[in-house]
Amino acid sequence: MGSLLYLAIIAIQFTISLASWSIPMKCFFRDSKSLNSFNNITINSLNVNHDGWILQANDIKFLGMDNAILDDFGINFDTKVAQITFHTDMVVTYNYKSDGTLFSKPIMGEGFTEVPIKNVQMNMNMTFEVIEKDGKKYINPKDFEVSYNIKDKAEFTFSNLYYGDKEQSDTMHSLMNENWRYITTEYGKFFFAEFGANLFIVFKNYALDFSLC
Ligand SMILES: *[C@@H]1O[C@H](CO)[C@@H](O)[C@H](O)[C@H]1NC(C)=O
Ligand SMILES: *[C@@H]1O[C@H](CO)[C@@H](O)[C@H](O)[C@H]1NC(C)=O
Repeated sequence: MGSLLYLAIIAIQFTISLASWSIPMKCFFRDSKSLNSFNNITINSLNVNHDGWILQANDIKFLGMDNAILDDFGINFDTKVAQITFHTDMVVTYNYKSDGTLFSKPIMGEGFTEVPIKNVQMNMNMTFEVIEKDGKKYINPKDFEVSYNIKDKAEFTFSNLYYGDKEQSDTMHSLMNENWRYITTEYGKFFFAEFGANLFIVFKNYALDFSLC
């Protein structure tokens, strides 16, 4: 009886502690050279042609990983799956060229895009194998699955949309921002897939930096 009560108190304290601490990912993953690339994930180009909208993006930058907060982390040596969940505010920027249609309207233009994303939570599951090198064991991530969930909001600004036609641009921006969840689901998935692939490389390099024993 005494020990049950003791366990219950520990559990409650643990829950409270978890809620009031926030663990920045950069503290969790410190002391690794691979983490220099963490804050600077850049993708050269991405061409999306989906549901009528043709979007070419160049020099895509994902800013905000510096402030990412760790929500969950685990390594299961039985199933050989490592999983990490974190959330952050992110800003995605790129140079764009647009053609085709969106919301049944033509959408063309060329310029700079900035997309602040408030409170995006990402989850990555990585399958791994344990490898041995020079008598030491390492986790070697092999494959990944990533999911993202934007909990608050995303906002789109495409400069020079319709090559400067303000009226058409305002109308399209209103539609995009009213339907931000549609855009971040249907089109954002291509960007987050690339981002996830780059993040996976960072985690893989990190894992290969540290031996288990
Ligand atoms: C970020 O990465 C890009 C492309 O890899 C590189 O050109 C740029 O110099 C890097 N910036 C910083 C601050 O490291
Ligand atoms: C990762 O695994 C967990 C537990 O099995 C699951 O709930 C989650 O949906 C998975 N995430 C992805 C991106 O597959």
